[in-house]
Amino acid sequence: MSFTVAIDGPAASGKGTIGRALAAHFGFRYLDTGLLYRAVGAKVMAGADPVEAARALVAEDLEAEGLRRPEVAQAASRAAAIPEVRAALVDFQRAFATRAGGAVLDGRDIGTVICPEAQVKLFVTATPEVRAERRYLELVATGHEVSRDEVLEDVKARDARDSARAAAPLKPAEDAVRLDTSELSIDAALAAAVAIVEERSGSGG
Ligand code: CDP
Ligand code: CDP
Repeated sequence: MSFTVAIDGPAASGKGTIGRALAAHFGFRYLDTGLLYRAVGAKVMAGADPVEAARALVAEDLEAEGLRRPEVAQAASRAAAIPEVRAALVDFQRAFATRAGGAVLDGRDIGTVICPEAQVKLFVTATPEVRAERRYLELVATGHEVSRDEVLEDVKARDARDSARAAAPLKPAEDAVRLDTSELSIDAALAAAVAIVEERSGSGG
């Protein structure tokens, strides 16, 4: 039996932080699907065709240097609007989700397209200003030279493109539980997510 937790939400809402911690808490596998699109974006920046890059993607590409850079995020978001790019990445994500045991995947279309049968769907949000501030602090702490304004612009531009595209747009699944983390610490957001998973898995007390 597989058990899947699907986490979606806009840029820097806290999907990855919650997803990784949930996976550690329950002993589940974790996949940051944004890395797939970032890896394609990085290859496009190096001159590759987006569809060919997506079709040729291998696991090591997800460990490439510099995938967290804001320019790569923008290139990822542009490539992610191409239906053939998305189609090329579906099988890998579904295979990851459906192996025996538990899995947590985070992205934009996990609950709607990749894992519509997921036992738990979370839609993680926070205001654009809160998200941009978190991402700004994270980028500065990891040695990137960015300004607050640039990061806010990046977040808003990607949210707009990701929400408006025809192919698997960013939106909550009908049965997703919304988690607004604007005023939550990481610990509080994680506690809320753990409670939701326990309730859905019937392991809550
Ligand atoms: O995966 P996603 O882009 O949605 O966001 P993230 O990488 O998990 O979180 C972005 C930043 O916000 C990280 O530096 C987290 O530590 C921070 N964060 C926070 O300050 N408070 C939360 N409730 C969640 C995340
Ligand atoms: O961490 P952050 O939320 O800033 O971005 P990410 O999750 O690494 O995703 C980078 C870009 O990939 C997004 O802006 C989306 O355009 C795209 N993406 C997608 O279309 N579908 C997914 N399942 C994951 C990411």
